[in-house]
Amino acid sequence: MLVTVMDAPPTRDETGDPWTTRGGVGVMIRPIAGDDEEGMARFHRSLSPETVYTRYFNVAKLSVRTAPARLDRVCHPAPDDETVLVVETATAAASGRRIVGVGRLSVLPGGGGAAEVAFLVCDSFQRQGLGSELLRRLVEAAGRRGLRHLRAHLLPGNVAMRALCLRAGMRLAGGLEEQEIRAEIDL
Ligand SMILES: CC(C)(COP(=O)(O)OP(=O)(O)OC[C@H]1O[C@@H](n2cnc3c(N)ncnc32)[C@H](O)[C@@H]1OP(=O)(O)O)[C@@H](O)C(=O)NCCC(=O)NCCS
Repeated sequence: MLVTVMDAPPTRDETGDPWTTRGGVGVMIRPIAGDDEEGMARFHRSLSPETVYTRYFNVAKLSVRTAPARLDRVCHPAPDDETVLVVETATAAASGRRIVGVGRLSVLPGGGGAAEVAFLVCDSFQRQGLGSELLRRLVEAAGRRGLRHLRAHLLPGNVAMRALCLRAGMRLAGGLEEQEIRAEIDL
């Protein structure tokens, strides 16, 4: 079999893009990489049931979220259709680093220039500005891809996500009585 450089899974960008949380903690924000599977499993183990529920709209089991096939897919996004950013604590030793947030942009099929975004920040790093920063970067990524429309699905009672989206200029469609609502913005 002919193995080319293109076949090698991407490896973690050791430098990343430094950023500081509101509480003064140094983190790196970078694209997810093929060797993040263990870090992602650890990230999922750190999430409270409430955080899991507000992201997946159900109590998605840890065993499902960390199934090897799923982690493999998550850590190898399709370059044409997905941008996935992780936030990692920035310590000198690689062994001390841990993923504390993930933001995902997925281009919707159909060629209409629309994409969906979703976010997950671990409990101990919420309300530190990470969600807003990830959204800002994914809006930029959407612009670079020439996309025209972004949307996110959220539970009506998700006050954090509502605030984050409204602050970014997204409009909310759907009321508190709905099962889920949509935040959207034309770019
Ligand atoms: C929603 C989520 C991504 C927000 O991330 P975050 O890093 O906490 O967001 P930010 O720190 O940028 O906060 C943005 C704003 O949201 C509001 N907010 C955040 N957390 C809040 C909370 N617990 N209660 C009330 N408002 C909150 C605030 O207005 C906040 O700005 P402020 O702190 O300057 O007032 C995060 O809470 C999370 O991962 N939740 C679980 C998963 C989820 O709901 N994902 C979204 C569905 S795709």
